[in-house]
Order: sequence, then structure tokens, then C-alpha cells
Amino acid sequence: MTSKRAQTVTASAPGKIIVSGEHFVVQGAFAVVAAICNRARVTVKKYDGRSTVIASEGQESSVNSNDRSFRGVKSVTKKIFEKCGRPQQNLRIEIESEIPSGSGLGSSAAVCVAASGALCRLLNFKTDTATIFDFAMEGEKTLHGNPSGVDVQASLCGGVSLFNRKSGAKSIPLSRAIQFIVANSGHERNTNDLIERVERRRRRFPATFDHLVQTASFLSLQAAEAISEGDLPYLGALMNAAQTSLNWLGVSTSGLNMLLEQSLIRDVFGAKITGAGGGGSIIILPKPEKYESVLTRISKDWTKSFATAIPQKGLQWEN
Ligand code: PMV
Repeated sequence: MTSKRAQTVTASAPGKIIVSGEHFVVQGAFAVVAAICNRARVTVKKYDGRSTVIASEGQESSVNSNDRSFRGVKSVTKKIFEKCGRPQQNLRIEIESEIPSGSGLGSSAAVCVAASGALCRLLNFKTDTATIFDFAMEGEKTLHGNPSGVDVQASLCGGVSLFNRKSGAKSIPLSRAIQFIVANSGHERNTNDLIERVERRRRRFPATFDHLVQTASFLSLQAAEAISEGDLPYLGALMNAAQTSLNWLGVSTSGLNMLLEQSLIRDVFGAKITGAGGGGSIIILPKPEKYESVLTRISKDWTKSFATAIPQKGLQWEN
């Protein structure tokens, strides 16, 4: 519980997987995004230092420093201070994360959402969903230039959402539990570089691209329905179809294609890259009764693989 005199606030938020529509969502398509069990946790404390400091895993940086560390959280923090009308604060912001960074699993968005939640609560500022969304987006814009907001949506609200830049998010109820396997290629990459690669593709093939934006929306609307009806074979087929468009965009690498090939050998309904691609992770939808054997098989070569359910909890305050 917090009160007006709270000296420390901790907030946490989940990472995400994109089930359908990444990249095309930046251009206005619908996407389907789901929260994962791994979370980022941010603790904000009042302290006696000379400025606000951000710290994680032995690294520290002042919020006013121009070094490239913690750029997202620095933007979030400065924006919140500005909106609160209190530009000078002496706080210590500590970040811990179970979400691998640069892996398409929404680690930066989860940190920005948790930081926004913790800061707003400590400073007795508004903590409604729209306010936290906008603050977290400040961080994402600093990091990714033109983010769609799909990652922030999943971190903030948890569960599964059908998301579109114009119409916002609609929560999709689950009629049965769904387990995905996340196989991390271990190859970190920069989302911004991939978004720029896609933009070059769009300029070169505008008509094909426009059609694929519509196709992505169609696949996402169908995927949302398949999830709400618990139709996993259909959901897997839609994921496979989404992957062919991502391949055309040039964001699937030969390493990822090999990982997909090995995943699809048996006992799965579908698999695709998740997030920006160019490395990062793939998601696999196993047959429910086979998920443990599929995870064991995939983990032999890709040791950073794990299974995740879809947690319903998004941003949460922990004290
Ligand atoms: O940063 P990633 O890998 O989680 O990807 C984000 C999803 C994109 O569609 C590529 C970008 C966006 O903002 O929607």
C-alpha cells in the first residue's frame, strides 16, 4: 500500500510476444499482442543524492547525463517531472528485468511502463491507463523513433489485445489456457534498424506493401477470433501465414528460418518470428499435450528457450 508519504514504490510490468501484425502495425494494420510471464521491475526511492539516478546491474547514470544508457527511462522520467511541475527531484530508480533485451520480447516497453507506474505513484501523479501509456511511449519514441504502441499496450494491460494505432486496443478473452514456446536466437538487434529496413521495402514496392498491410490486418482479426474460440490449429495456420509476409519484408534471417524449420518438424500448429526480427526470438504454438516434449527438443539447440502462458496482469504496484 502507498500513501502520500510513500518513500519507495515498486512497479512491475510483463514483456510481450506479437502473435500477428508486427511491422505492419506501424503502418496502420491490426496486430495481436500477448503478455508473457517474464517481467521488468522498477523501484523508485527518495534519497539524498544531488540528482535523480538510474541504476541497473551495477551500472548507474544521472537522469541529466547525455550518455546513452537508460535513454528510454531518462525520457520517461524527465517527462513525468515536467508534467508534475517539479523538474528537480532526488530519486533513485532501480531496474531489474527478467526479459532478455534486444530479443523482440518488449523489454524496453516493460521497463518504461514499470518506471512510469512507479514514478507516478511515488509523486502522487495520475496513474490511469492513458496517462501511463503516454509516459511510457515517451521512452519508446526515444528508443525506436516511430513505435506503434503495441508493446506498451501488452505491458500495461496484460492478457491478449487486438491493437491498432487509430482505434487503440480491444482486450481478447481466452476461452482456454494457451502456452507458447519462445525460442530466443540469442542474436540481439536494434528495432529501429529493422523498422528502417521495412520502410525501404515499402518505398520500393508500395503496392505489394499496401496489400500486405491489409493481409496483416485480416490475419490479426482472424487470430483474435481463433484465440477467443480456443481454435489452436487455426491460430497456428495464421501464424505460419503471417511469417511468409515477414519473410517478404526481409526481417527473417537464414538463422531464424532454420530455427523455424526445426520447430515445425512435429507436434506444433505454427511458428513465426515475434517482434522486429533480424535476430531476436520466434514463437511456437505447440499442440497442448506435447508442449513439454517440444520445449525439450527446441532447448537442446536453443538453450534460451522457454514456455510462457499469457498472464492477465499488466502493470502492477508491489508495495
Ligand atoms: O522491439 P520489438 O522487437 O519488440 O518489436 C516491436 C514491434 C514492431 O512492430 C516491429 C515495432 C512497433 O512499434 O510496432
